[in-house]
Amino acid sequence: MPTPANNPARLVVLVSGSGTNLQALLDACEDPAYGARVVAVGADRYDVEGLARAERAGIPTFVKQVSQHDSREAWDLALTRAVAGFEPDLVVLAGFMKLVGPDFLTRFEHQVINTHPALSPSFPGMHGPADALDYGVKVTGCTLFVVDPGVDTGQIIAQRVVEVLDDDTGETLHERIKVAERQMLVESVGRMSREGWSVEGRRVRIG
Ligand code: GAR
Repeated sequence: MPTPANNPARLVVLVSGSGTNLQALLDACEDPAYGARVVAVGADRYDVEGLARAERAGIPTFVKQVSQHDSREAWDLALTRAVAGFEPDLVVLAGFMKLVGPDFLTRFEHQVINTHPALSPSFPGMHGPADALDYGVKVTGCTLFVVDPGVDTGQIIAQRVVEVLDDDTGETLHERIKVAERQMLVESVGRMSREGWSVEGRRVRIG
C-alpha cells in the first residue's frame, strides 16, 4: 500500500497545457494542514502556462519532449529518471497529454494518478467532453484514477457528476467539468497524502 513516506507528502505534477489543476494543487498546498507539497513540475513541451505557474511559485521544473529522444522507450526512461530524482510519494498527471510507458509505471506502481474529463469508463481519450456531448448524454463529469497501461482505464479513485446543458458546446461543458475536476483532485490528493491509500483489484481505498 503506497503510504506517503513523507509528511507533507511529496507531489510531482506533470502538465501539457494551461495547468489550472496544477494551480488548484499549488493553492491547496499553501495550507500546512493540507499534508502535501509540490516538489517539481514536469512537462512534455516548452512554453506552456502550467510551467509558468510553477516558475511563479518558485517550484523546480523540467521538460522531457518525446522528439528529443531516439525512441518512445528512451523518452519514458528519461521521464522516469527525472521524476524519480524528486523522490515523489505521488505523481499527478494534470492535463498531461502523453501516455507514460512501462518503465514509468513499474517504477511508480500505484503512485501515478490522472484526471480525465468524463465519467469513466465512458468517453476515454483526448476529447472526453466533446465525445460526451456528441453522444447526447445528459450527465457527464470527471474521474480521478490510478494510471495503468491503458487509455483512462485505471482503478477509479473519485468521480464527480456534471449536468450537460442544452446549449453546451464542448468548450462550455469542459470548463464546467474542470471546476468539478479541480475540487475532486484537491480533495482526493489531500486525503491520499494524509491517510495513504491501497489498491486491490479494481478498488481503491483511501485511509
Ligand atoms: C483537464 O480537464 C484534464 O482532465 C484534461 O485536460 C485538462 C487539463 O486542464 N486531460 C485529458 O483530457 C486527458 N485525457 P488544465 O491544464 O487546465 O489542468
